[in-house]
Amino acid sequence: MDGSFWLPEGASTLAAEIDSLFYFVTWASAILFVGVVAAMAYLAMRYRRRDVALVPEPVEPNKFIEITWIVLPTILVLIVFNWGFKLFIDLSVAPPDSYEVQVRGSMWNWEFEYPNGTVTAGELHVPVDRPVRLVMSSVDVLHSFFVPAFRVKQDVLPDRYSSVWFQATRSDTFQVYCTEYCGDGHSAMLASLVTHPQGEFEEWLESAGVDEDMPLPELGAMLYEQRACNSCHSLDGTPGIGPTFEGLYGATETLADGSTVEADDNYLRESILEPGAAIVEGYQNVMPPAYGNLSERELSGLIGFIEEQ
Ligand code: CUA
Repeated sequence: MDGSFWLPEGASTLAAEIDSLFYFVTWASAILFVGVVAAMAYLAMRYRRRDVALVPEPVEPNKFIEITWIVLPTILVLIVFNWGFKLFIDLSVAPPDSYEVQVRGSMWNWEFEYPNGTVTAGELHVPVDRPVRLVMSSVDVLHSFFVPAFRVKQDVLPDRYSSVWFQATRSDTFQVYCTEYCGDGHSAMLASLVTHPQGEFEEWLESAGVDEDMPLPELGAMLYEQRACNSCHSLDGTPGIGPTFEGLYGATETLADGSTVEADDNYLRESILEPGAAIVEGYQNVMPPAYGNLSERELSGLIGFIEEQ
């Protein structure tokens, strides 16, 4: 089904039926609304009080009209309930042969772990024409995983697993959003969802492992994007939610308590692992402590990358 004013083009097996239900409810509501308002306006005009002295005749109830306005809305509501309940079940129960990917939400980043242990951040790769089940959890606050093109949306909680499934119908790149307000970087908590044709997905998965020989600053540049450092730290001197990386390395920073510190390797390392330890003057202590799981090599990569700016 093509996109419309109301909905983007669907790209999952269930999208068409969800859209049909959506349009049914929308148009039924629109028709009823117009009908009720038109009848109300007409009757108000037709039976308005024309004279202050006028005393209206008592009206006898009309059984036919009363039964009609009870039975018709009941049927309408039952249709929507049955249709919606069936779709809800279809959306909730993933087929048993689904490909399973673990999803971790954190402020403000999406991380995906595949069955072979490969981890990607900010990018989810899945095969097309095969059911995919996402098992999701959060390391901090409530997030919500939303892929408009697949018509799926599910809360991601810190204290329990939630899941969502879909089967993509074409290979393309889709947008993933976080749709639960989760702090300063909420609107930048995005990921792209890439669907690969069968066979190509397996190829991607094999090549996705981190290249051990990648030079450190290059690894840092990749992490800067993947771990979403870029949503708070600019590279062009603009202050964001956090200080810019431009000219940061080796600079003398004034901290919130008035003391000064040189932004050397040790300071940068501490600031990544323990963001609250030393806050630069003028900034809030909002950086999430989610970077403690970076490896030594990844830390060196990020520091090397910052040094280059
Ligand atoms: Cu995560 Cu909003």
